Amino acid sequence: MMKVMMNKKILTTLSIITISQIWWWACVGADPQINLLNEGCSNYNATSLSNFHANLNATFLDLKAQLLDGSKHFATAQQAKGSDPVYAMTQCRNYLSSADCLSCFAAAVSQIRNCSASNGARVIYDGCFLRYEGRASGFFDQTVATLPGNEARCENQTGSPATNITAAAEELLMDLQVATPKINGFFAASKEVVSGSGNTTAYGVAQCAETTTETGCQDCLKVAYTNIQSCLPGTGGRAVDAGCFLRYSATSFFPDNQTTNITPFLDQGTQDLLLLDAYSASPIIQVLY
Ligand SMILES: *[C@@H]1O[C@H](CO)[C@@H](O)[C@H](O)[C@H]1NC(C)=O
Ligand SMILES: *[C@@H]1O[C@H](CO)[C@@H](O)[C@H](O)[C@H]1NC(C)=O
Ligand SMILES: *[C@@H]1O[C@H](CO)[C@@H](O)[C@H](O)[C@H]1NC(C)=O
Ligand SMILES: *[C@@H]1O[C@H](CO)[C@@H](O)[C@H](O)[C@H]1NC(C)=O
Ligand SMILES: *[C@@H]1O[C@H](CO)[C@@H](O)[C@H](O)[C@H]1NC(C)=O
Ligand SMILES: *[C@@H]1O[C@H](CO)[C@@H](O)[C@H](O)[C@H]1NC(C)=O
Ligand SMILES: *[C@@H]1O[C@H](CO)[C@@H](O)[C@H](O)[C@H]1NC(C)=O
Repeated sequence: MMKVMMNKKILTTLSIITISQIWWWACVGADPQINLLNEGCSNYNATSLSNFHANLNATFLDLKAQLLDGSKHFATAQQAKGSDPVYAMTQCRNYLSSADCLSCFAAAVSQIRNCSASNGARVIYDGCFLRYEGRASGFFDQTVATLPGNEARCENQTGSPATNITAAAEELLMDLQVATPKINGFFAASKEVVSGSGNTTAYGVAQCAETTTETGCQDCLKVAYTNIQSCLPGTGGRAVDAGCFLRYSATSFFPDNQTTNITPFLDQGTQDLLLLDAYSASPIIQVLY
């Protein structure tokens, strides 16, 4: 009955993705983005395996039924018959089609069964996540969306990147961090172009679990923002946590028509605020978090 600690043992490659799947996706335009970022199983086992598996199966069926509805990218479910209750939630990145969301969820279900008898677990992909715990407290009403084990997952940074997207990515990630907690549904996809010799573009998304609060989302993304800094100047990276997700890349990974207009959610002058220092009367640059 304890929070799942994130397992540092991570599958680093896209081993799940076979050439034929890539070919199939290229033909139908589908991509459930099942690149595994993080997996964790609790150290505590269920007391009755049959009760536990019955409850687990029931919550997974419930989650799937809700995602089949088509409009939903987030769902929670619970089943508490007998000794081992299960509380579960799943979330797809909002830019995924309904079909891709269901594929990602199906992959997560099969992956999370690796935790066998563990009464708590989580699986996080680029495209979605799935979590369950043996108790509701602190799970659905999670004002604290950040948990131990939060970390950055950086793309391979071998060789020098062709373009330095640091400036574009910093600006984008800061804006996403500020805007996303204020947006209904806690999701934003955006891009930032920095003009210059190369005209570099950074693409990014931020998302929080819908059961958290605006403050919980803010706090979680603040940690994610700090973690993801370690990936720069690499051309891509993610920050994963229990209740939020942050990603940037030099290449687009969501459809252009899924881009969020985040401008209305940025406080005026939030980006680089020029203030006058009262004592020295010299301008100082203050970056607001
Ligand atoms: C739960 O579902 C799995 C996979 O479909 C199945 O193998 C297992 O028998 C089910 N267990 C129970 C108790 O329903
Ligand atoms: C975990 O799940 C994956 C995919 O479902 C499977 O290929 C792999 O063998 C499993 N690993 C273990 C240790 O059970
Ligand atoms: C939990 O169950 C698995 C197999 O179902 C077993 O391998 C493992 O040792 C158990 N862990 C504990 C802490 O009892
Ligand atoms: C990352 O780069 C190293 C070479 O420094 C290479 O051995 C490794 O296979 C690369 N990993 C991936 C996932 O491409
Ligand atoms: C990338 O750009 C940032 C600022 O835009 C600069 O601080 C950094 O030194 C650059 N890094 C490389 C590897 O060029
Ligand atoms: C950069 O973008 C601007 C505006 O879109 C465009 O006018 C300019 O030609 C671009 N420069 C390069 C080097 O691509
Ligand atoms: C977005 O564009 C894709 C084609 O790239 C199209 O299939 C889809 O219907 C569009 N979605 C919206 C909401 O316009």
